[in-house]
Amino acid sequence: MRFGIMTLDDFDVGGKTVLCRVDINQPINREKGTLRDTTRIKGCVPTVRELSDKGARVVLLAHQGSDIEYHNFFSTRPHAAVLSDFLARPVKFIDDVCGPAAREAISRLSDGEILLLDNVRYLGEEQTLFELNLGLSHEEQSKTLLVQTLAPLADLYVCDAFAAAHRNQPSLCGFEQLLPSAMGRLFEREYCEVSKLMEAPARPCLFILGGAKISDTFMMMETVLKNGTADAILTGGLVANVMLAATQKPVGSGSLALIRKSGHEKFLEAAETLCKNYPDKIVLPLDLAGSRNGLRIDYALSEVPEDLEALDIGQKTAEMYAGRIRDVATVFLNGPMGVFEQEETSLGTRTVMEALGNSKAYTVVGGGDSITALKRFDQTDRISYICTGGGALIRFLTGEELPVVKALRTAAERGLD
Ligand code: 3PG
Repeated sequence: MRFGIMTLDDFDVGGKTVLCRVDINQPINREKGTLRDTTRIKGCVPTVRELSDKGARVVLLAHQGSDIEYHNFFSTRPHAAVLSDFLARPVKFIDDVCGPAAREAISRLSDGEILLLDNVRYLGEEQTLFELNLGLSHEEQSKTLLVQTLAPLADLYVCDAFAAAHRNQPSLCGFEQLLPSAMGRLFEREYCEVSKLMEAPARPCLFILGGAKISDTFMMMETVLKNGTADAILTGGLVANVMLAATQKPVGSGSLALIRKSGHEKFLEAAETLCKNYPDKIVLPLDLAGSRNGLRIDYALSEVPEDLEALDIGQKTAEMYAGRIRDVATVFLNGPMGVFEQEETSLGTRTVMEALGNSKAYTVVGGGDSITALKRFDQTDRISYICTGGGALIRFLTGEELPVVKALRTAAERGLD
C-alpha cells in the first residue's frame, strides 16, 4: 500500500480476471483515424506485462477522445495492435464494451491473455456522468450498466490511468465500489513523482498553459495563482485567444469563430476576471500568427486583421516567453502554443519547447499533445519529468484530491475493515 492506495504488490493475481483501466487516449488524425503518438500506450506496458506474466486474465478498458473535448469518438482497435507490438505478445480486441460479445470474449480468456475492449465512451453513461454535467457519487456510478455488467466477471480492478484521474466517470470511479482495487505501476510512479514536485517547487515557478482542451485549465488557474503554486502563467493556444478576446484585444473573427465552435465562450467571463485580478501574473501574447496560402504571417496585436484565425503565438511573444523560461527555477507546461503540426504555425511551440530543453530549471511537461510536440522538436530527453497526464496533472497541482485517487483510497479503507 502507498499513499493509502493498494498496489499490485498487495494482490495475488494468478488465474484472476483483472479489469484494468488504462489511459491510452492519444492525439489522433481525425480524418484518417490514425494515432499521431503512442507514448501513453507505451506507458501502460509495465502494468499490463506484469499482470499477464503473473497469469492474470487481463481485460483492458480505455477511452479515445478527440483533439477538442468530447465531440469525436474513435475505436481503440488501433491501440490494441500498438500495445501488442510493445508487449511482443498478442492483445485481443473486441468491438464491444460490455455487451454479450465483450462478456463472451472475457469468459474465453486464459491465464496470461490480454483483451482490450472498445472505447468506453461509446457508452452514453461514461460521458453524461462527466463531472461538469451530472456529478453522480461514486456509489451511484457503481450502478451504471458498465460497472454492473463487468464487475461480476472480475476479481480485481486496477487503475493505471493517472492521465484520466481527474475524470469522475464509471470506468474510473465506479468499479472501486464493488471490487478490491489497486493502482497500476504507471499510476503509482506518476502519483509519486507529481506529489514530490508539489511538496516544494523551487521558486520562481512558472506555468505555461496552452492547447485546445482548455476546460481543465480554466478550472485551475485561479486556484494556483491564489494559493501561490504559480508565480506567473504564460498563455498560448486557445487559452491565450480566449484571454485576449475576454479583455477586448483584437484576435480576428476566425479566432472568435473557433472559440464559439469549440464551446469555449463560457470561459470569457472567467478569463476577464482572472486578467483583472492578476494583471501582473497572467501573461498574454504581444503578437499572433496566422497562415495564408501555407505561409506564416505575424501580426502585432494593433495590426490584427479583422478576419484572422490565430494559429500560433507570434514570434516576439515566443522570444519573450523563452526569456521568461530562462529566469525561473520550475516550469510546468501543459498544451502547445499553437497548431505545431503545420510547419508555418509551429514556431511558437518549437521556441518554447527548445527553451524548456535548454533551461536549467526543473521542467515538467504533461499531456498528449505536449508530448507529441516535444518529440517533434527533439526535446523529449531534455525535460526533467514528462507526465502522461495533462488535465490530470494541472488539476492535481491545484491541490484537490483527484476523483480516482479518492475512489482507490475508499476501496483500500474498505478492504482494511
Ligand atoms: C486526457 O487526455 O486528459 C485524458 O485522457 C482524459 O481525456 P479527456 O480530457 O478526453 O477526458
